[in-house]
Amino acid sequence: MAILITGGAGYIGSHTCVELLNRGYEIVVIDNLSNSSKKSLDRVKEITGKDFRFYRDDLLNKAAVEEIFRRENIDSVIHFAGLKAVGESVEKPLEYYYNNITGTLVLCDVMKKHHVKNLVFSSSATVYGKPETVPIREDFPLSATNPYGRTKLMIEEILEDLYNADHEWKIVLLRYFNPVGAHKSGRIGEDPRGIPNNLVPYITQVVIGRLGYLNVYGNDYNTPDGTGVRDYIHVVDLAEGHVKAIEKIMGKDFAQNGVLTYNLGTGRGYSVLDMVKAFSQICGKEIRYEFKPRRPGDIATCYADPSRAKEELGWTASRGLMEMCEDSWRWQLNNPNGYDDA
Ligand code: NAD
Ligand code: UFG
Repeated sequence: MAILITGGAGYIGSHTCVELLNRGYEIVVIDNLSNSSKKSLDRVKEITGKDFRFYRDDLLNKAAVEEIFRRENIDSVIHFAGLKAVGESVEKPLEYYYNNITGTLVLCDVMKKHHVKNLVFSSSATVYGKPETVPIREDFPLSATNPYGRTKLMIEEILEDLYNADHEWKIVLLRYFNPVGAHKSGRIGEDPRGIPNNLVPYITQVVIGRLGYLNVYGNDYNTPDGTGVRDYIHVVDLAEGHVKAIEKIMGKDFAQNGVLTYNLGTGRGYSVLDMVKAFSQICGKEIRYEFKPRRPGDIATCYADPSRAKEELGWTASRGLMEMCEDSWRWQLNNPNGYDDA
């Protein structure tokens, strides 16, 4: 039996493939490579010494998804595939709704037809909107401030409806906080196209000289140093969270009273300036930055209460800030142009 990984060539997907293969699971990957490179999967094979089948297909192509389910012996799915850039989603809402929501509908429809009802879905801390307090618990009110966030919220609701209509579905929603870092080998990592939107890839590109300086968006937040605070989590910890979620679903004692939802975060917040300082230490270089106005839609502070994942999945993040920075840096240094260097 195999686990289908949608979006498996992407940043979090490729790291999850490694952790699953290392634990002896069989996997099959579908990805249209709209935001990734096939080289990431070649490197997953190199790191693990294991082989698996890859289908370069779009989730929106129902016939292609059907064909995969006919050919492969799939018993569960981890669903990463989706578009994820907040700013782009404001400019191209239809693309985001179409890709993320229709892609999920096609997937679930084909799963249902083939009696595959085990699903782990990539959600995001963005579904908490502007939380009134931190740390954020799973039962906090949900809202979205942009089309990307709304796709996550809508998909969560669609999956709840699916479970309510048919209790044979076993569904886990994982709400990620801020994934950073890379595999220790320095062979796979985050490879954003164009100028990065996210803090860590921006910093590492400043350090290698691809970008001049970091824009620090806002130094007047109500935080210890005035800059935004986030819960950065090592991508390998995150990948291990998926292994735990899939093992929970497949466990004999699995019982649920609804869709299961877990925050995957460390429970610790670091500011933008904390991150700059940590990277300077790791790289042994000063990192140039300039304060700029707040970025629209940003919140001051966001970090998780990860205790539910600890109690129910037996999962905690074990990698600290320095390891996150070291691993991000090794990936960037070894691959200054991402997978294009290969
Ligand atoms: P990513 O862009 O690296 O990976 C997503 C993958 O999905 C890409 O390889 C892309 O080519 C593929 N894809 C997109 N649409 C597809 C389609 N219609 N058919 C087939 N493949 C398709 O992103 P990531 O950072 O690895 O994120 C994975 C998931 O986690 C996404 O759903 C994202 O929204 C979610 N998430 C990411 C973050 C983050 O900060 N990275 C935070 C919270 C949630
Ligand atoms: N920041 C800068 N300069 C930059 C980029 C970011 O100062 O060039 C700051 C932001 O203002 C924020 C912090 O760094 O305070 C982190 O910003 P990111 O863009 O790295 O991450 P976000 O917290 O804004 O959002 C990320 C993902 C979302 C996801 C969310 C989950 O991009 O998709 O984490 O918490 F929903």
